[in-house]
Amino acid sequence: MCITIDRENLLFSLNTSHTTYQFFADSRGFLRHLYYGQRIGNFDMRYREFHSDCGFSPNPGEMHTQRDFSLDTRAQEYTGCGIGDYRIGCLSLTNGDGSYSADFRYAGYAELEGKYAIPGLPAAYDNSGSCRTLRIDLRDPVTKLELALYYGVFPEQDVITRCAVLRNAGGSAVRLYKAASACLDLPFGKWDILHFQGRHCMERMPERIPVPHAALTVGSDRGTSSHQHNPFVILAAPETCEEFGVCYGAMLVYSGSFKIEAECSQLQSTRLVLGISDQRFCWTLEPGASFHTPEVLLSCSVDGFGGLSRRYQDFLAAHICRGTFRDTPRPILINNWEATYFDFNSEKLCAIAQQAKELGVEMLVLDDGWFGKRNSDTSGLGDWHVNEQKLGTTLTELIQRIRAIGLDFGIWVEPEMVSQDSDLYHAHPDWALSVPGRTPAQGRSQLVLDLSRKEVVEYLYGVLAGLLRSHDIRYVKWDMNRSLSDVFSRSLPPERQGEAAHRYMLGVYDLLERLTAEFPQVLFEGCSGGGGRFDAGMLYYFPQIWCSDDTDAVERLKIQYGTSFGYPIRTVGSHVSACPNHQTGRTTSLHTRGIVAMSGSFGYELDPQKLSEEEKEEIRRQICQFRRHRDLIFFGDYYRLTNAMTDDYFTAWQFAAKDGSAALLNVVVVAPKANPYPIHVQLKGLQPEALYRETESGSVYSGAALMHGGYTLPIMTGDYPGFQCRFERI
Ligand code: DGJ
Repeated sequence: MCITIDRENLLFSLNTSHTTYQFFADSRGFLRHLYYGQRIGNFDMRYREFHSDCGFSPNPGEMHTQRDFSLDTRAQEYTGCGIGDYRIGCLSLTNGDGSYSADFRYAGYAELEGKYAIPGLPAAYDNSGSCRTLRIDLRDPVTKLELALYYGVFPEQDVITRCAVLRNAGGSAVRLYKAASACLDLPFGKWDILHFQGRHCMERMPERIPVPHAALTVGSDRGTSSHQHNPFVILAAPETCEEFGVCYGAMLVYSGSFKIEAECSQLQSTRLVLGISDQRFCWTLEPGASFHTPEVLLSCSVDGFGGLSRRYQDFLAAHICRGTFRDTPRPILINNWEATYFDFNSEKLCAIAQQAKELGVEMLVLDDGWFGKRNSDTSGLGDWHVNEQKLGTTLTELIQRIRAIGLDFGIWVEPEMVSQDSDLYHAHPDWALSVPGRTPAQGRSQLVLDLSRKEVVEYLYGVLAGLLRSHDIRYVKWDMNRSLSDVFSRSLPPERQGEAAHRYMLGVYDLLERLTAEFPQVLFEGCSGGGGRFDAGMLYYFPQIWCSDDTDAVERLKIQYGTSFGYPIRTVGSHVSACPNHQTGRTTSLHTRGIVAMSGSFGYELDPQKLSEEEKEEIRRQICQFRRHRDLIFFGDYYRLTNAMTDDYFTAWQFAAKDGSAALLNVVVVAPKANPYPIHVQLKGLQPEALYRETESGSVYSGAALMHGGYTLPIMTGDYPGFQCRFERI
C-alpha cells in the first residue's frame, strides 16, 4: 500500500519504492509536514518535532498563554494567510468582510482509486493502475473557505504529485491574489537551489546557488513559462553532485506565468512554494465556486542529479506525454525555415523534398509563410488560408506532390497570434489583448489573441480543425513568438481583469485538448521561438518541443544539457542546420552536428540542394546511424558524463538500454588542446558481468571495465570534433 493512514494520530505516510512523504494533522487541526526523503516506511517521524518559544513568532489564539508552538516555525503542507507565519506563503486573499486571513484546519480525508485529474488543466495520468490519490480536506471555520490538497502517489516512479483546490463555501465572494499549488518545507539541513535560467536562443542554463535567508524567486510574468526561467527547480544538499547525494525536484505542470519561491527561515528550515504567478493575478471566487491550481510533480533522489533526471524523464514520457506518438519513433524531418525563410514556392519546396528524400528524410515540414499575406514577420498572422499565389499551387496539390516524392507533410502554425496587418485583425481588433486607450506593445510586430474568450478559441478551433480535416497533414509545429503584454480582456468586467492571463492559458489548453483529441494521427510539436514554452504542461499535448532557435551544435550542447535535467530526450526537437550557423556564424563539422542533433527528435533544417556530394553521402550515413540508434536514444536511460557548463575541454553524454544490452557514447570536443591529453570517460548503466563489443572496432570489454576502468578516446584535433560509438552486449 503506498498510502498508509494512522487514523488515531492522523498520520499520513506516502511511500514509493525509494521515498517516503509524511505529514499529520495536529491536535489543533494544522496540517504539518514531517518528512520527505529516502524511504523510512510508516515510521512516525513526529519525534523530530521541537517545542520552543520563538521570539516574535505568534502563537495561535486558542493557545492562550502557552507559547511553545507557532506556525511561523513549523513545517506545513500548505499555508494559511495572515495568521502568524511570516515566511513565503501559499495564499494571499481578501474575504467578503475585507479581512486578509485564512486559517485552515483539518476536516477529513479521502483515499481515491487511481490518479485525480484537474478540470481544464494538464496533469499526470496513470494507465498502470498503481497510482493512488489521497485528498486532505481543510476548512476555515470562520469564512467557510475550503481547501482540498490532492496527493497522487506513483509508487514505482518515485513521484508524488500535488495540487490544491479552493472552494468558497461561504456566503460572500473571496478574492484570491495568490493561490500556490504546493509548499514543500524541509525542516532541517542546508540546501542549494538549481534553477534553469536563460534567454531566447540560450534556454535552460542550470544555475546553482544556496537558498538564501531571503525569498528567492524564479518565475515568469510573460504569460508563458518563458526562455528566461523554467518551471522546474531542484533543491540539493551542498555535497550533491551528478551521481551522489540527496536532491528534490519540483516541476510545475503549467505553461503560463509562474512563480517558484525558496527561502531559508530564521530557524534554518527551507521552504519552497510553487504556483501561478501572483503578479497582476486576482481571481474572484463567488460563493460555491472553486479554483483549481496547476499540478506540481515532486520527486526525491539519493542518486544525485542523474538519478533525479532519469526519474523525471521516465515519468514525463509515460505519465504526462500522451497520444499515438508517445512511444513511437518520430519521423526524421526536414524543415524549410533556415533553408528558405519566407522565400519559397511549391517548386522550391518540392526540390528540397526530392533531395531530402534521396538522403533518407521522412517528412517535409513547411514552416512560416504559407498563409495570408506573409512574406515577412510583420503581417498575415491570423489569416490561416493558403496563399496559393505564393505557393503557385493549392495546398492539396503541394501535399500530393510531396507525398508522391515519398515524404509525409507537416505544417507550421502560430494560432495564438495576430498581425495588425491581417484580415483577422481588421475584422476583430477587439480579439487582441490590449488595454483600452493604450497602444499595445508589439512583440515581433504581432499582438496576442485573447484566448480567454470562448469565441476566439472557437474560431481558432474551426480554422485549424478545417485545415487538418481537409488536408493530409501528419505533423503540426505550433509556434508562439512573443511574451504577453497589455493583458486585458474585453470580455471580462474590471474586477476580473486579474483572471485574464490564467484564463488565456485555460483557453490554450482547451484548444489543444480538442485538436489533439480529434487528430490523434497528427504529431504535434510545440515551439515558442524555440524553447520559450518548454514545460510539462505543453508536453501533455505535444510529445516533442522545438528546443531552441539556436541550432549551433556547440551552443546546443549546453541547451540540451540543461534541458535534460527535467525533460525526456525524445521530447527535445533538434535539427542539423547549415554552416556557418545562422545564429552564431560558427562552423562545425556535419559529423558533430549530427551527433548533437541525434540526441532528440531528429531532423534537418537546411537546403539539401546546397550540399556537396560528399556532404550528401555523409547525411545518408548519418540517417542510417540515427535509425540504428533511435530506440536507444528514445527509450534508453540518459547519462550526463560531464558538466557542459563547466567542463571546458569536452562534453560527453551517453545512452544505455534499460536492459543493459547496448550503449551509445557521444563526445564533442569544445576546446581542442595543443599537445592534447587523452579524453577518458567512464560509462554508466551497463551490466558489470556482461561483455560488450564496440561495434566499429570490434574490441570487447566487460561492462565493469567500461564503467570502472573507463574508455579512452582517440586523440581528436580540429574545430569541435565529435565522436560517437556504440557498445553491444555479446
Ligand atoms: C520561431 C521558431 O522557433 C522557428 O523555428 C521558426 O518556426 C520561426 N518562428 C518562424 O517564424
